[in-house]
Amino acid sequence: MADIQWDKIGFDAYRTKTLVLARWKDGKWSEIKEDDSFSFTLDPFTCVFHYAMSCFEGLKAFTQKDGRVVIFRPLENAHRMQRTARFLGLPAPDDDMFVEMCERCVRANREFLPPYGHDASLYIRPLLLGAQPKMQLTPPDEVIFAVMCAPAGSYYGAFLKSFAAVIPLNYDRAAPKGSGSYKVGANYASTFRPYQIAHNQGYMELLYLNSKTHGFIDEFGSSNFFGIKGNSYVTPLSDSVLPSITNKSLQELAADLGMKVEKRPVPVEELAEFEEVGACGTAVVITPISHIDVKEELEEDSVSRTYRYFPDGQVGPVCTRLYKALTAIQKGEAEDIHNWCHGIEL
Ligand SMILES: Cc1ncc(COP(=O)(O)O)c(C=O)c1O
Repeated sequence: MADIQWDKIGFDAYRTKTLVLARWKDGKWSEIKEDDSFSFTLDPFTCVFHYAMSCFEGLKAFTQKDGRVVIFRPLENAHRMQRTARFLGLPAPDDDMFVEMCERCVRANREFLPPYGHDASLYIRPLLLGAQPKMQLTPPDEVIFAVMCAPAGSYYGAFLKSFAAVIPLNYDRAAPKGSGSYKVGANYASTFRPYQIAHNQGYMELLYLNSKTHGFIDEFGSSNFFGIKGNSYVTPLSDSVLPSITNKSLQELAADLGMKVEKRPVPVEELAEFEEVGACGTAVVITPISHIDVKEELEEDSVSRTYRYFPDGQVGPVCTRLYKALTAIQKGEAEDIHNWCHGIEL
């Protein structure tokens, strides 16, 4: 077992031991290899560098209460990567290959898998990239599929604590009919600079509106949006947001808890009607939002409107209940009635 303070790790590119790798060439996948050098070499002309031919996934492995090791809903991630790969024109690993490589990654790096009893997991990061040196704007014939992992704690430095978000009206995340619903690397590149500005102003998250009209909520830069209104769990229906596996799970859990689930366009003004707002995703789990400022220009001081939910740090009852319901299943503390946990032998 690695010498790690499991309760202190955050969420970062912690270097583990083994990278699991396959290459697509001449129309087929190579044998799957485990590489302890944790590296690969690419020609500087490789299209991933110039044209952002890459997509990725994010999922987590947990040690459960009874010692079982599970990966949370890996087939959902396999399907989402296949969908994104189709969008990019890249070949994708099939379900079996995707799951096998995730399992092998966990097994080979088992010393970095947090034991039960800590709010930590092993974050698995599958990456698919165009590996052919080429100038032409057509999909590459050579592709690398690599699966790596890192022990992970809280994305924002604390679990079940609320943080501030900002709507930056002078930035959009994705074009209408563009890449917004796919997990392509390029979607994230355009958020780095606004994130930096927002973080310097004390906001943890950026909340993006639909680019076409700015009239509806899309999602956070790192995660999906949900709002709680009475007994309803409300989440945006938009073809520019990533179909979040956490959000899909929360919708099922909310229904299990007797809540009404509303997946529909969410007008910005409705922010004033929610009692609680949260960000959800594999990395952020559920992160409640304390308040949302709207800014015409992110760089400027002036705020045109503020929607308040809870004082900074405090968390509402529904976010708490949903967080506990989800994490109890992941940790094996509650019955996995939906069959979400994929057990693996170490
Ligand atoms: C932009 C964006 N939206 C939503 C999500 C949540 O998706 P998931 O719950 O599948 O991790 C993520 C990733 O965590 C993301 O990067």
